Amino acid sequence: MDGSTQVHVRNHDLLADALAGLTADEKTLGPKWLYDHRGSALFEKITRLPEYYPTRTEAGILHDNAAALAGLVPSAGALVELGSGASVKTRTLLDAGGHIGAYVPIDISRDFLLETAAALKNAYPALDVVPVVADFTAPVTLPDALAALPKAAFFPGSTIGNLTPARAQALLSGVRAWPGIEAFILGADMVKDISQLIAAYDDAQGVTAEFISNILVRLNRETGADFDLNAFDYKATWNADLARIDMHLVSNRSQQVTVGERTIPFYAGEPIHVSAARKYTTNSLTALANSTGWDLHDCHTDANGRFSVAVLRPGG
Ligand code: TRP
Repeated sequence: MDGSTQVHVRNHDLLADALAGLTADEKTLGPKWLYDHRGSALFEKITRLPEYYPTRTEAGILHDNAAALAGLVPSAGALVELGSGASVKTRTLLDAGGHIGAYVPIDISRDFLLETAAALKNAYPALDVVPVVADFTAPVTLPDALAALPKAAFFPGSTIGNLTPARAQALLSGVRAWPGIEAFILGADMVKDISQLIAAYDDAQGVTAEFISNILVRLNRETGADFDLNAFDYKATWNADLARIDMHLVSNRSQQVTVGERTIPFYAGEPIHVSAARKYTTNSLTALANSTGWDLHDCHTDANGRFSVAVLRPGG
């Protein structure tokens, strides 16, 4: 860009992160930038798509095992949720857990978190609701008042699979080190038939494509980049070696895009990696637990074995 062009950069963190990713050999954009207001609404829409089985499958497992799962929270102890969003699934546990003393939703989206916390206080007057604004992909420090409470952690949605393996391990080890931690309730989507997996991440209505493309919409609006949305196609692929779905935006022609002060060249067919969704087996879940100080104590699944709600206990 030359000096005569004035572009208003509203989001410097997004720009810095995007430039680092787009100037790498294999271009990437970080999935955390997917979730602005429009992105969060598109994601809610994904959870209701016919092809997107994880949300309703996990909700069914939580419902069918509500008493056992709620029972993992110690009496008068705390249920701590990572990335709580609207806390929809949590209500199933709270409804079955009259003995639970405190609910601690942790989320990066401040306004959304505080609204949700207020609604929960109304719905569960006897419960101590203590929202914590934090990014759970970095080490989370709980408020001192909660340190003494015995507690269980809850991390649903197979969000663990959106983290790199190193970050997933760091998260599990970090929670293992919380004072008073007695159990970890972990939602994990399982390896299955590839066509079902691909459909869940590339739906017929194109909602997932819109959700992923939202990152380019944000770059244009918040950093003044000039991505042509018609010049990128959404593509989801299955990587069998890493047991994960990879989500890409693929440049459908040779082109140059201006991002901040840089001109970013694309060859026809060049992908930008935006997100991954790792899928698990009982063996890989056991290995993940054991490598981070946990034992896989129990694994609740649906009748078709599509999704698991794993119960981890501190290991020896
Ligand atoms: N935790 C969800 C999952 O892995 C997140 C998700 C659903 C997602 N659909 C997506 C992330 C599409 C990126 C793109 O299933």
